[in-house]
Amino acid sequence: MQDVVLPTAHKMLLAGERVDSASGETFAVENPANRTVIAHVPRAGAEDVDRAVAAASAAFPTWRLVPARERGKLLLKVAEVLEGRIEELARTIATETGNALRTQARPEATLTADIFRYFGGLASEIKGETLPLGENVLSYSRREPIGVVGAIIPWNAPVLLAALKIAPALSTGNTVVIKAAEDAPLGVLMMAQVCQELLPPGVLNVLTGYGHDCGAALSQHPGIRKLSFTGSTEVGKLIMKAAADRLVPVSLELGGKSPSIVFPDANEDWAVSGIINAMRFTRQSQSCTAGSRLFLHASIFDEFLDKLADKTSALKMGDPLDESSDMGTIINEKQFRKVCGYVEEGLSRADARLVIGGLPPDSGPLSEGWFARPTIFADASNDWRLAREEIFGPVLVAIRWEDEAQVVRMANDSHYGLAAFVWSRDIGQALRTAHRVEAGWVQVNQGVGQVLGQSYGGTKHSGIGREFSLEGMLDSFTQRKSVTVNLDLPAP
Ligand code: NAI
Ligand code: MG
Repeated sequence: MQDVVLPTAHKMLLAGERVDSASGETFAVENPANRTVIAHVPRAGAEDVDRAVAAASAAFPTWRLVPARERGKLLLKVAEVLEGRIEELARTIATETGNALRTQARPEATLTADIFRYFGGLASEIKGETLPLGENVLSYSRREPIGVVGAIIPWNAPVLLAALKIAPALSTGNTVVIKAAEDAPLGVLMMAQVCQELLPPGVLNVLTGYGHDCGAALSQHPGIRKLSFTGSTEVGKLIMKAAADRLVPVSLELGGKSPSIVFPDANEDWAVSGIINAMRFTRQSQSCTAGSRLFLHASIFDEFLDKLADKTSALKMGDPLDESSDMGTIINEKQFRKVCGYVEEGLSRADARLVIGGLPPDSGPLSEGWFARPTIFADASNDWRLAREEIFGPVLVAIRWEDEAQVVRMANDSHYGLAAFVWSRDIGQALRTAHRVEAGWVQVNQGVGQVLGQSYGGTKHSGIGREFSLEGMLDSFTQRKSVTVNLDLPAP
């Protein structure tokens, strides 16, 4: 595995200063590809949350009054500087997450800069409305910022997900306290450093710490006026409970177990490649939108699986920094053990057929990191644990179906409802299915990542609210105020 040199002094961003935690405590960050410690970052606790919220509260009255386009211009500057540092950012992301540089980390760094560009450009679209209440009344609405936004993010696409909360929140005039995920704080701190140079102090505050203390303190802090969370459904519920106590609005982007439905007429190579993309195998399937339940029509089941097995086997797993690696590693030991547990369960079931993959390599260079093989189990049933729970690892289950009503029923028989994929050349059939599937986002004949401009989010246990778009920004980070003026005063 290649060595990387990361900047050594990792500090949080608080009130425009780069600081350590109040307690002076730190925690270690590992490179999951070789299990070595690559950095120590401050371990923020409740006191740091207090300081960060105080800084964001102090910055809010001024920041909200900066004309929207001026705020937008600052975000465009952030975009520009990030664009010049994509390679450095990408290598940091690859090193701390284990995501392959070519397939994941570089696209993530590129999209991060673009997120600041997009939301910077949208700053002047925070428009209100006027109501036609008659000649003697002026009634209009304003889109106002909410206040201090508390944001908590996971590790699977850490910098992109941070940008997706920071950029729309700041563009609309809020100030932000964001907690990075404990497994992947370095790219976020690098981005914070860029923001420190360009944004007024206190507008953005970035903490590094654990969920149960720092995250919980942030979600419960009385100074927070809006919570935006991406992560597990379990923690999402805790966030919503904390928010309920103070009637704070929440946006939750949670887990998924997304169906990929293949019709007989899509028994072709493009669909096979699409399924591999949809499953996010090149991010070790650590993606909330992974199409991890593969519904194959019975008439093509074996033939399609053979093709899928061949193409998936060709993915090269290896050093995340090696340009030829398609796949990297699982984020940490806990997630690795969890994924292995699901693989073991599949192997131990007499009625599950292992198509490819299995338990991770236990010797050779790949055994030095948390590498998990892409694994496919066939003849699965939709009620197995493997088919119901979010594995968050490269384990795909293939389930047979016979008729359209049955497959839609199975697809919807899940408490999740984030993404879905439909594969068919018959566009009527495909769209009929797309409309009946319970999901926030359905892709037909493709399995790509989210695109800026699309309102993205889940239904059921997959979450509440939409982000990624203009509408998402307005709904999630502004509140409307109505102003009604009587124009018909009697003469003085
Ligand atoms: P998690 O939901 O525990 O962590 C996500 C973020 O929440 C981290 O920043 C963490 O520090 C914070 N957090 C944890 N407990 C908290 C609390 N009590 N209060 C406030 N913040 C808290 O996810 P984790 O443990 O990393 O992964 C567990 C499972 O969650 C995965 O196997 C996967 O199924 C799911 N997950 C889903 C993600 C998605 O994008 N939808 C992302 C990450 C995990
Ligand atoms: Mg957790």
